[in-house]
Amino acid sequence: MRWTLAALFGSALVANQALAELTFTVEATKNGVPIPQSEIKLEPFEFGRTRMGGSSPTPAHRRIRRANPTANSNNWCGSVNKTPSTNQIKVIHGTFQHPTCTKRAGVTTYPQAAANWVGIDGDSWSTLLQAGTVCKIDNSTGIVKNEAWWQWVPSAAYTITTMPVAPDDWFEITIETTSTTAAEITLSNLSQGQTYTMNIASGPALARVDADWVVERPYYGLSLASFPTFTDVWFDEAWATRASGSLGILGAKQYQIPGLCASQEWDDQHEVSWSL
Ligand SMILES: *[C@@H]1O[C@H](CO)[C@@H](O)[C@H](O)[C@H]1NC(C)=O
Ligand SMILES: *[C@@H]1O[C@H](CO)[C@@H](O)[C@H](O)[C@H]1NC(C)=O
Repeated sequence: MRWTLAALFGSALVANQALAELTFTVEATKNGVPIPQSEIKLEPFEFGRTRMGGSSPTPAHRRIRRANPTANSNNWCGSVNKTPSTNQIKVIHGTFQHPTCTKRAGVTTYPQAAANWVGIDGDSWSTLLQAGTVCKIDNSTGIVKNEAWWQWVPSAAYTITTMPVAPDDWFEITIETTSTTAAEITLSNLSQGQTYTMNIASGPALARVDADWVVERPYYGLSLASFPTFTDVWFDEAWATRASGSLGILGAKQYQIPGLCASQEWDDQHEVSWSL
């Protein structure tokens, strides 16, 4: 199934059956001043939705699933820290600078894309709530599109088309869950004072057991994008709160994409993913 890429406007409560029944509201501010709803625009796109096997999509295509902490993946590069289901994640947080992306030498397939995000689940649990930025090179011109986006997998992804993103911009992501199916995503460009807040009332249930800080080689529809070359992505202030106690990056599983990307924990709140 292909989603209809109709533009959606944040002013309305968005409820589109075709988009896996996600309902959410959006508010935005610039330097603390509300941005009029008429100037807020989100556009759904097909992102990270891979082969629709059977009646429900399987998350296994998002990365290579392994039984042990061997940290190789075909599309995730970064930290995943796990908490037991008896002590669920409540909030996840991270800041990073949007990287400068360039065509990968010797690679002539497009798009080339790298998505930088903070999220909950998707590793040991199938649903995934994530928000971040992406750089995308559509063709050999090497022109880079930089965008902010969020997704509650397996529902559709949304580009926040009215939020400009530039290399080196600092972004802060906070995802606060109020239940397994309700959350508030706050995405800010710290440098320019733009903040977008999405309130989602009825997402696909999370387990809230994986805390993720990841640079992803994304799928667009059925196709795994090529991976561009990008400047180092440092996740700073990377922490999560749980029902009891916090969770950082210390000891987190480090996913690597062999030959393309590696990552390393720096200390409890810092991780770097770099292009190979
Ligand atoms: C190449 O990609 C850029 C950015 O998406 C786009 O503006 C341009 O039209 C594309 N050019 C061709 C020849 O497809
Ligand atoms: C973010 O801040 C930078 C300044 O570092 C600015 O150039 C850029 O336009 C801002 N982007 C957004 C999305 O506000």
